[in-house]
Amino acid sequence: MRSFRYVLAACCVVASGGCERSSPAVESRVSDAAVAQVGSDAARQLRETLVKRLTAAIDSGGTASAIDVCALEAGEMTDSIGDAVGPGVAMKRTSTRVRNARNAPDSLEQAALAYFQKVADSAGEMPTSWVQDAGTEGFRYYEPLRVVDLCVQCHGPVDSIAPDVRAVIAERYPEDRATGYTSGDFRGLIRVSVPASRAHDGT
Ligand code: HEC
Repeated sequence: MRSFRYVLAACCVVASGGCERSSPAVESRVSDAAVAQVGSDAARQLRETLVKRLTAAIDSGGTASAIDVCALEAGEMTDSIGDAVGPGVAMKRTSTRVRNARNAPDSLEQAALAYFQKVADSAGEMPTSWVQDAGTEGFRYYEPLRVVDLCVQCHGPVDSIAPDVRAVIAERYPEDRATGYTSGDFRGLIRVSVPASRAHDGT
């Protein structure tokens, strides 16, 4: 579980040439690679911090006490990491089945969730990331979140979740839909909003 790692393979490579969208008569060019660089940096920090803090909290106080890490700190973490990565960079975790309604997907996120699932169904493998044009908001960078053993303690099949953990979840999240997952399942997405000003080559 501590070996929980993700390979952010090709998306991190900022290759020059080839994949930029060129815009005529403008000196700077919008580039998916530039968005992906900002997005993958933020997403990696969120994954690492969250797993580290969850593991430490579970080790020291048990799984039920670690619920606060996901509930309170995940929100603060997404804010502070976004700020650290750059102005206007904002993050969120979302899913088709949420525990907290606050994390429910908006229409662009619903499209992204559907895109990842569709590619996985047709190609047999989920994309490691995706850049979406978000209109006036700029761009959104997404990475899939997979369930590992650590997550099953709080997101697994209901009858496999320890009674004390189940009780806290039931009390705080009466509308919880984020159970029933097993290791390897697609749990949802990390979304990183990247303002258009950060989506240009060389910036
Ligand atoms: C200690 C219990 C616990 C563990 C372990 C845990 N989570 Fe959560 N998770 C929660 C709680 C509680 C929330 C609701 C957070 C909130 O209120 O915003 C949540 C929310 C989420 C969300 C946001 C969408 C939603 O359902 O509201 C995602 C995505 C998520 N968890 C994925 C994971 C993944 C992936 C792992 C394993 C790396 C994991 N969680 C491990 C308790 C846990």
